[in-house]
Amino acid sequence: MPSDRRTAVAHPNIALIKYWGKRDERLAVPNVDSLSMTLDVFPTTTTVRLDPASGTDGVTLDGTPAAGEPRRRVVAFLDLLRELSGRAEPAAVDTRNTVPTGAGLASSASGFAALAVAGAAAYGLDLDPTALSRLARRGSVSAARSIFAAFAVCHAGRGSGAAADLGSHAEPLDVPEFDPALVIALVDTGPKTVSSRAAMRRTVATSPLYGAWAASAGADLADMRAALRRGDLAAVGEIAERNSLGMHATMLAARPAVRYLSPATLAVLDGVLRLRRDGVPAYATMDAGPNVKVLCHPRDAARVGAAVREAAPGCATVTARRGPGARLTAGADR
Ligand code: ADP
Ligand code: DP6
Ligand code: CO
Repeated sequence: MPSDRRTAVAHPNIALIKYWGKRDERLAVPNVDSLSMTLDVFPTTTTVRLDPASGTDGVTLDGTPAAGEPRRRVVAFLDLLRELSGRAEPAAVDTRNTVPTGAGLASSASGFAALAVAGAAAYGLDLDPTALSRLARRGSVSAARSIFAAFAVCHAGRGSGAAADLGSHAEPLDVPEFDPALVIALVDTGPKTVSSRAAMRRTVATSPLYGAWAASAGADLADMRAALRRGDLAAVGEIAERNSLGMHATMLAARPAVRYLSPATLAVLDGVLRLRRDGVPAYATMDAGPNVKVLCHPRDAARVGAAVREAAPGCATVTARRGPGARLTAGADR
């Protein structure tokens, strides 16, 4: 008998070519293609249990009942699962992050990838990885990539409406020979004051630089694919760095400006430049938060971590490698 209580685990991913901006808010369709590495650290574990006796959905995040926007986003996702499955039962969702929530460390990616996998199973939807990725995208676009292990490309799709929805999902990118380290500088793990969603909406609506960055994203992606195929860490790093800094430039030009980069972020960036001057290939990428992810060779990870901590005293580091895709946990649920 199919169980109506399912648990899934998913890991965050960090984009080397960023997604920033939607062309359809309701369907969560991105403006640009993106490319990422799923991590082997900071898993989210999510259980979805159908709860026919309850009048409403229950949502618990890290042991505390969710309210406001975080709850609304999960309930909207459950509504989508009910629409797709033709079922009406409310659900009880219990989700636990090990990644800091809302800090620019991709909690929405691991969170909605785990919710997509557990929720689809609980509602009896039999979806292949592409369909799961498309589904996860509706919760958070970055989550579409966390369905897959290691490197993934998320397509923006073409057109509008149903065609755009169908075409926008991630797929794995096969680069078995490229196995870098990502040293994560935990500059500030507190929640951001402006969510990724709100920040990109404002950027698209008001930043005169947004169009130029989005127009250059296609070339960045093509260059990145070629660099990954060559296993060329320096080229991968340079492209990722320029793509991320360009994205932050679009935000700085928004009205009012969105600025996630803090003095400690810039201190880490200086440390990364010093490493490069000393002959250590190390490259930085930043998301919607002050934390820095430094791409390097695994044999240099300890040295990079030490340089980061020296550049920004008090800043802890975590070293990540390529990690697994989202999956149901075996057998534990009844
Ligand atoms: P981040 O950089 O952490 O991805 P975002 O602003 O993109 O930050 O998203 C943070 C929001 O994602 C949270 O406020 C919450 O709404 C949602 N979220 C985070 N973790 C989970 C989770 N495990 N389950 C469901 N939603 C989550
Ligand atoms: C800067 O996927 O968190 O991390 O789709 O509104 O949930 P929503 O936003 P989200 O945005 C991530 C932005 C980014 C770049 C990236 O991960 O590609
Ligand atoms: Co996010």
